[in-house]
Amino acid sequence: MKLWGDGSETGEALLDEFNASIGFDRVLFREDIAGSIAHARMLAKQGIIGKEDAAAIESGLRRIEGEIERGEFVFAAEDEDIHMAVERRLTALIGEAGKRLHTARSRNDQVALDFRLWCVRQGRHLADLVAGLVSALHETALKHTETLMPGMTHLQHAQPISLAYYLLAYMSMLVRDHDRLMGSAKRANLSPLGSAALAGTPHPIDRAFVAAELGFDGVTLNGLDSVSDRDFALELLFNAAAAMMHLSRFCEELVLWSSAEFRFVRIADRFTTGSSIMPQKRNPDAAELIRGKTGRVYGSLMGLLTVMKGTPLAYNKDMQEDKEGVFDAVKTLSDSLTILTAMLQDEGTVFDREVMRAACARGHLSATDLADAAAQKGVPFREAHHLARRAASLADQKGIDLSMLKAEDLALIDPRLEGLTDALSLEASMNARVSAGGTAKSAVLDQLSFIEGWIKSVHLVKSPQPAGRP
Ligand code: ARG
Repeated sequence: MKLWGDGSETGEALLDEFNASIGFDRVLFREDIAGSIAHARMLAKQGIIGKEDAAAIESGLRRIEGEIERGEFVFAAEDEDIHMAVERRLTALIGEAGKRLHTARSRNDQVALDFRLWCVRQGRHLADLVAGLVSALHETALKHTETLMPGMTHLQHAQPISLAYYLLAYMSMLVRDHDRLMGSAKRANLSPLGSAALAGTPHPIDRAFVAAELGFDGVTLNGLDSVSDRDFALELLFNAAAAMMHLSRFCEELVLWSSAEFRFVRIADRFTTGSSIMPQKRNPDAAELIRGKTGRVYGSLMGLLTVMKGTPLAYNKDMQEDKEGVFDAVKTLSDSLTILTAMLQDEGTVFDREVMRAACARGHLSATDLADAAAQKGVPFREAHHLARRAASLADQKGIDLSMLKAEDLALIDPRLEGLTDALSLEASMNARVSAGGTAKSAVLDQLSFIEGWIKSVHLVKSPQPAGRP
């Protein structure tokens, strides 16, 4: 059955629904109204419409904004998208003046403006949430500069580190996430309005005025690009995907650590759920979901990259497919950041110092230190490495950790190891790594104070909370 032109009711309805974006793009109503008010003011300033018309448009738009905010706005069947819905209502409210609003504008530059504005605002808001998580991690880390845990590679015990040092790794990732989000918001912060359908307009508009009214840093260069560019959305999606990847790695460790095999952490009750059949279960659902939801954010990034790859210049209806994935990714990251921050701040979330310390006494974590100490006493490193391995085997024979060997045990292996028991201590091993970015408490305190300064600096430029969420 042909849908188009066969006159069937169902066919027409399906097509209308297929074409429409009103089901999801109403999220943009604040940006749409702000953009229209700025546009109307500019049209009046330039003498393109009358001052009374502009005033009527502005008060009509403010009223519509209130109606949508309070849930009183009635979307009509013929409202294809948020732009048409607002304009229809405006014309119903103020008559002919409403029809003048669209002078020197097209839905192509209008949607580019609305979505850009939304992405800039949400990108900055996400950056604030990232900074909030950094603060929570920093606070936790301050309590754990002396909490020893096994540092791992290949998920094998490698060298002793502190929990603070471990948390600083995630803080470092999040600082980059913040930087990326703010950088993309800065790049996106140019107004495309005035590009009209694709080619600009013969009306004597003032694009810079509109840009300044809306808080943009300037205007985009070329109309053809402006109406078809979705890089700002792609950057936001990549930034969200990278941040989710970081959260997912952290959550993966929280899931592992809360298992009976590790027991490094007990996650606060409200972030876990019981099983309907096994009464003892405390499933780390929130952490698992953050890990799981990372997939949909990657999907949205891949989805939009694919939408864009084959579109000829300039606007194509394909581009209407840009929004849902971005809305979903922003909500997913925003929720994940909020929940993870709360999980860390909850007093019921406890990292178990004793269990972590005990785990360090498995796996001969100070073997490298023994070899280094022997080398420092003049034993060639290759040989020192060999002696440390023999010491580790001796500890295995005795069923103890290397760090528990006595001076006489070492002397038995090789007289040159005598007196090197200090090197076996796990604390000494951790504190020996004083290089910048290392595990020594002094180096960790330096890293923590860098983060503290960073937190202060970003709070100074904290962005206003955008109204509304996807
Ligand atoms: N709903 C459309 C979108 O989201 C708005 C732009 C429509 N422009 C057009 N020429 N059909 O992309």
